[in-house]
Amino acid sequence: MLHAVSSATITLTDAGLPSARVDAELLAAHVLDVPRGQLAIAAGFTSEQLTAYRSLVARRAAGEPVQHLIGSAPFRYLELAVGPGVFVPRPETELLAGWGIQGSGPAPVVVDLCSGSGAIALAVAQEVPGATVYAVERSPAALEWLRRNASGTGVTVVAGDASDPAVLAELDGRVDLVLCNPPYVPAGAPVPADVADHDPEDAVFAGPDGLAVIRPVIARAAALLRGGGRFGVEHDDTHGDAVPALLRADGRFTEVMDHQDLAGRPRFATASRSLAIGHGRLTPRDAL
Ligand SMILES: C[S@@+](CC[C@H](N)C(=O)[O-])C[C@H]1O[C@@H](n2cnc3c(N)ncnc32)[C@H](O)[C@@H]1O
Repeated sequence: MLHAVSSATITLTDAGLPSARVDAELLAAHVLDVPRGQLAIAAGFTSEQLTAYRSLVARRAAGEPVQHLIGSAPFRYLELAVGPGVFVPRPETELLAGWGIQGSGPAPVVVDLCSGSGAIALAVAQEVPGATVYAVERSPAALEWLRRNASGTGVTVVAGDASDPAVLAELDGRVDLVLCNPPYVPAGAPVPADVADHDPEDAVFAGPDGLAVIRPVIARAAALLRGGGRFGVEHDDTHGDAVPALLRADGRFTEVMDHQDLAGRPRFATASRSLAIGHGRLTPRDAL
């Protein structure tokens, strides 16, 4: 079996895949139905398993994401079901989820906008005691994966446009935390082949400047949040200035700051909803 894994590593390296050894091991562990860490002590492949393994390695060499081949992707303490039609959650998004989780008080109301597989929503629901979590997603294909992942977790799945003021309008002014990993790549910008070929286009690209979803989501987050509530949004690494500037320009946020990922690239912006309700100033009603 270890010989088959070494041989697969060579095949995947020759195909230009940067994580060839990890992928070869993940596929072997999947076929053997054991954790990757136990491969060294696992029984060898049967001939049927070897055939299945070689077929998966060939598909990986042809560019299919390893997560699609395995049927799941890790995210913090979760394994999420993923496949064609849904964005595969990325490790860098764990930082945004972690920021939200770490700053949460007891039993918060949390909204995950652009939820995809449900990665952020489900991580919050798992890690924050008593959280009431809503996951908003627009794509019918992604919603199927989201519903499957959210089943039995208590997370409420909402089919709708994250920028639509009517979606979750009943929560306006009551939400403690809004998190969002939206599409944010400028249309036409080059992306790796596995992203271009396998991630849904509307999960990746967002208009000519990549801000077409973030702009209305900022407005929606400001409406959903209570005074003092927190907002975190992931963005393109070229938007480390642009997204904080949009948050400041909205006028309803304070404590605006940007955060880097583990590679030192600008990755997500955070802010607090100002205590004054209204669009950047106290309205007569709120001043009472
Ligand atoms: C980059 S993916 C992120 C998915 C998930 N939050 C994650 O971190 O893995 C963006 C998701 O937003 C969804 N989406 C795009 N525009 C949307 C909109 N206006 N309203 C709701 N969902 C939207 C896409 O279908 C996709 O699932």
